[in-house]
Amino acid sequence: MSQQFDVIVIGGGPGGYIAAIRAAQLGFKVACIDEWKNAKGGAALGGTCTNVGCIPSKALLQSSEHYEHAGKHFAEHGIEVKGLSLDVGQMLKRKDQVVEQNNKGIEFLFKKNKVAFFHGRGSFVKAVEGGYEIKAGEESLVGKQVIVATGSNARALPGAPFDEENILSNDGALRVGAVPKKLGLIGSGVIGLEMGSVWRRLGAEVTILEGLPTFLGAVDEQIAKEAKKAFDKQGLKIELGVKVGEVKSGKKGVSIAYANAKGEAQTLEVDKLIVSIGRVPNTIGLNAEGVGLQLDERGAIVVDGDCRTNLPGVWAVGDVVRGPMLAHKAEEEGVAVAERIAGQHGHVNFNTIPWVIYTSPEIAWVGETEQQLKARGAAYKAGTFPFMANGRARALGDTTGMVKFLADAATDEILGVHIVGPMASELISEAVVAMEFKASSEDIARICHAHPSLSEATKEAALAVDKRTLNF
Ligand code: FAD
Ligand code: NAI
Repeated sequence: MSQQFDVIVIGGGPGGYIAAIRAAQLGFKVACIDEWKNAKGGAALGGTCTNVGCIPSKALLQSSEHYEHAGKHFAEHGIEVKGLSLDVGQMLKRKDQVVEQNNKGIEFLFKKNKVAFFHGRGSFVKAVEGGYEIKAGEESLVGKQVIVATGSNARALPGAPFDEENILSNDGALRVGAVPKKLGLIGSGVIGLEMGSVWRRLGAEVTILEGLPTFLGAVDEQIAKEAKKAFDKQGLKIELGVKVGEVKSGKKGVSIAYANAKGEAQTLEVDKLIVSIGRVPNTIGLNAEGVGLQLDERGAIVVDGDCRTNLPGVWAVGDVVRGPMLAHKAEEEGVAVAERIAGQHGHVNFNTIPWVIYTSPEIAWVGETEQQLKARGAAYKAGTFPFMANGRARALGDTTGMVKFLADAATDEILGVHIVGPMASELISEAVVAMEFKASSEDIARICHAHPSLSEATKEAALAVDKRTLNF
């Protein structure tokens, strides 16, 4: 006899676990199925984000930043550090503990919200009267509504499968036991820059090979240029416009044949190679074809603007569907779907989803870039303010970068905000709120911001749109 649920969620990452909690809050009987295993074979809720993504990468970014500060920046504060040493094992152990705290936190939230959790693979069996039969490991469940949140997997380079020893995905990149002397990365996207930064700070000689001729093409050009300057200064070597050829992995490491931007044949020899060339939607083991769940040519589940699939009562959210592969986007979709199932008007505003790259300097943005505005012939005004002119940034000793506002020339409505600099990840929230409320740059310019704070750079950039900065 199958266990009956109102809502069955397949996948316990940010899209799935949040959808399950919201559905339970709305009074539904909810099950969530997730197959992730920790090192001991137990459940590890939270998906890619918690286990091998957002959380462990930020833990290592923090540890490596402390190490770099202790070695390079404490002296200017009059703090002398003698005998500085690095214990990579302890760094990884702390990272694992941070991950486990998050795994346990989600387990607790499931108990608190009475979400029934099944550890194992979830797959469609068949459509039944009033719902779907779903296999959860060895158990059989029936759900009136099903939310698929099965996430994504790292894309491998053709001919160079991940062995997680020498050729690493994001998983192996977070488990390197000793600092490699030479580290190569393919792809200077978000993972390339974040993981490249971690291992450079810890002492590796890092080279990133990027296929595109432009650096961070999706980022506002002025901001990307400023970030590139900072990375060059740090010694993060980024080669643009390359064409990667044969990759050979052996006992001594990895050798990558490539043509540089001029078309000249080159070879990069490294101890470890991280391949970070994007991710592919994951529907492995779901039996999508068995029930006729429609996928697109990239393998993503086809959904409409409300995350409805082609099957009645089946929804899909997060990395497994179109749109940016971001944890907060997955979460918002999860909430919206649970609310739609309850007959409410769940809503996700794709125009105000923030992006953050957690390097140093951090890069964060929301809305349109200047090149996008130009491409669509929009009449706009721009205002920038450098952190160099911000008192808090000077006190922090972190003055790289700027805040940039883009506003409609006629109405002054904010169209985009782009930040490269300290705490950009936190500062961007003000811009998201402003854009969500359709604020003008004048609105931000007239709001009192605490002094001294980095957020004053946001206010000043808004003032700069009207050419009336006060501190620059
Ligand atoms: P996932 O988190 O991938 O979760 C899917 C879950 O479903 C997994 O637990 C999987 O095991 C399970 N599953 C799959 N199929 C089945 C099945 N058939 N049965 C049972 N379970 C199944 N995003 C950010 O917003 N900020 C960041 O800082 C950030 N950093 C990142 C760093 C790295 C290194 C990586 C790789 C990604 C990062 N991301 C970040 C992206 C973020 O991790 C994803 O966007 C997010 O995890 C997507 O959530 P999801 O719920 O759609 O899928
Ligand atoms: P990405 O899409 O950010 O970057 C991939 C890069 O690889 C691109 O610049 C692309 O041009 C390049 N590339 C692709 N094929 C190539 C090839 N054959 N040779 C050379 N270069 C090639 O993907 P990434 O870094 O793998 O991250 C995947 C996703 O995970 C991100 O897009 C993002 O959605 C998410 N993520 C988010 C983070 C955050 O929010 N801070 C952190 C890490 C990941």
